[in-house]
Amino acid sequence: MLKKLFTLGTVVVLGSFPLYAGKFGNPDDVEFARTVWQAMTKASLVGEGAFVSQPYKGFPLHGIVLDTVEGEFSVANQEGILIIKRNYGGEKETKQVMENPAKYLKAVTIMFRKQPGYDPGNGDWFYVKYSPHGKVLKNPKGVSLAGRAGAPGVGGCIGCHIGAPGKGFVFRHDRYPKQ
Ligand code: HEC
Repeated sequence: MLKKLFTLGTVVVLGSFPLYAGKFGNPDDVEFARTVWQAMTKASLVGEGAFVSQPYKGFPLHGIVLDTVEGEFSVANQEGILIIKRNYGGEKETKQVMENPAKYLKAVTIMFRKQPGYDPGNGDWFYVKYSPHGKVLKNPKGVSLAGRAGAPGVGGCIGCHIGAPGKGFVFRHDRYPKQ
């Protein structure tokens, strides 16, 4: 019986691993994600006292209500573009969220554009999904959502963002030319 269980475990692990092996959710990715969170907290972009931009109606996958802030950002001696999307839950109206954003915040998702060559086929974006308090969240397979998360045709962040208009992996606009 034990042997059978072990075999089953191996199959499950092998079955889900190759898609993601080493691509994201590694200890280095998680550590960098934590460093980004600390830098964002210092800059009042997340955490208590974070400033809020105008929330707008989103869609269920990210959040019913969203707000997005972005710009040049420096973290751990790396300069890049940072886009932060705060995802609010519940059947709430933007006005209610605006009045008490911390209460409705469900997750913080970010894209940070790293140096050219980090992930050249996919726009060099480093993705993270955090809890409202900065914990790096995991996908259903238990892999931390930090780094080159997902893949074309497979899903996850990259699998969906590859469909963004303009081929820049950013949905909202095409402001950032290819680097
Ligand atoms: C099923 C598709 C889908 C998946 C999966 C997805 N996103 Fe998005 N994402 C979108 C769409 C659509 C928008 C634009 C929404 C808006 O702001 O109106 C967006 C917007 C964003 C933005 C703001 C920049 C932009 O592209 O407009 C960030 C940051 C972001 N997503 C991060 C993530 C992260 C991190 C993950 C993975 C943990 C992820 N997304 C997974 C569809 C997806």
